[in-house]
Amino acid sequence: MNNLRSLTLNDDAQSLCELPVLTGTTGPNVIDVQHLYRETGLFTYDPGFNSTASCRSTITFIDGEEGVLLYRGYPIEQLAEQCNFLEVCYLILKGELPTTTQLDSFQHNITMHTMVHDQLTNFFKGFRRDAHPMAIMVGVVGALSAFYHDALDIRSKKDREMCSIRLIAKVPTIVAMCHKYSTGLPFMYPNNKLSYVENFLRMMHATPCDDYQANPVLVRALDRILILHADHEQNASTSTVRLAGSSGANPFACITAGIACLWGAAHGGANEAVLNMLEKIGDVSKIPEFINKAKDKNDPFRLMGFGHRVYKNHDPRARLMRTTCHEVLNELGLHDIKLFELALELERIALEDEYFIEKKLYPNVDFYSGIVLHALGIPTNMFTAMFAMGRTVGWIAHWDEMIADPEQKIGRPRQLYTGAMRRDVPADHRKSN
Ligand code: CMC
Repeated sequence: MNNLRSLTLNDDAQSLCELPVLTGTTGPNVIDVQHLYRETGLFTYDPGFNSTASCRSTITFIDGEEGVLLYRGYPIEQLAEQCNFLEVCYLILKGELPTTTQLDSFQHNITMHTMVHDQLTNFFKGFRRDAHPMAIMVGVVGALSAFYHDALDIRSKKDREMCSIRLIAKVPTIVAMCHKYSTGLPFMYPNNKLSYVENFLRMMHATPCDDYQANPVLVRALDRILILHADHEQNASTSTVRLAGSSGANPFACITAGIACLWGAAHGGANEAVLNMLEKIGDVSKIPEFINKAKDKNDPFRLMGFGHRVYKNHDPRARLMRTTCHEVLNELGLHDIKLFELALELERIALEDEYFIEKKLYPNVDFYSGIVLHALGIPTNMFTAMFAMGRTVGWIAHWDEMIADPEQKIGRPRQLYTGAMRRDVPADHRKSN
């Protein structure tokens, strides 16, 4: 199949059209159906996009069968081991790892934009204190375009770069503000002497009367979480960002669309759902009951943190997260915490269960990230906002790649219509109701 150059679509003996087969650097070939409708009057049907490549991209590659994840060609394991998050951001945005000088300049640029417009703080006051942080994120990140409209020409590379820097710099500040707002504590300004992650942890945990000194092991753990979440090719939220951006919407609006999509429990909301699930299970003895619920076709319950659309093997991010989890719990002397024991046992039982083996359901990145975030003192309802913080760079890189792509068009899928045929509104339709 890999040598195919084109496919001929036949209707009985008659050839309808020739479909070119495109080859990427690696990964499955794709059938180019762009002109299918024009030539045959047919659409393709692929709900959930199981078999659809929506674009060309040079950013991230996943081999789901082998459990491989590459950012710009580099294996995630090496990046997580040898690089820090801002280096990975640079790589994702620009395609190459930075030199020391390039990294210093990039880091300086990010640091200089960590503060948000002071009036943005008023925006928070419109929300209830008990609002979910993701609800506030959707509102506040969306509002950024009202504050930073000096560089919103999406055709200008310089403006796009400025928006990228602003988003990567300001999202952590906004995430921390969401937390402070929900706890009734004053917002903490960023401190430009600190690294990206140290600064974030300080904005989360310090108060004006009590400073916060970050533990280097925990800083490294959070840095790794951000690296592991930085990009994942055309996942639901990234595709949402691309679709929103395809109409020419500004990047702040597009990233907000991504945040809204991420919130769902099948996507980024899973890390929060995993912790809630572990708390609900409560005890190792209850695991078989929950495994049975997950296997029951008549029960909507799913084992959160298990399964993935693309990985039909171990999620490489989950492996790294598991190691990070051990490191953090060792450092904090929390190795025997019940949640962690529960998670390990749940993983063991599920991986030996015929249902999970047959359906190739392995732990995904969210299975362990919640436990690490919990150990870092991040409240459960903040987990998905943490995911958004890591993924912002991926969203921005895909948005930028799409805008710069000469093939770019507004995203406009079609449908298989199954509704009523044309009919007339009855003259007496109100009476008959
Ligand atoms: N527990 C129990 N059964 C499952 C699970 C699960 N976690 N995941 C999939 N299945 C079953 C599903 O019922 C279906 O069975 P059948 O073939 O008998 O109908 C089969 O496995 C295939 O599932 P699917 O829903 O068709 O697969 P999908 O590719 O559409 O969904 C998924 C992928 C991630 C949405 C799904 O596995 C899931 O809901 N997992 C739990 C939520 C989760 O952990 N999400 C985080 C994903 S990783 C981070 C991210 O990308 O945001």
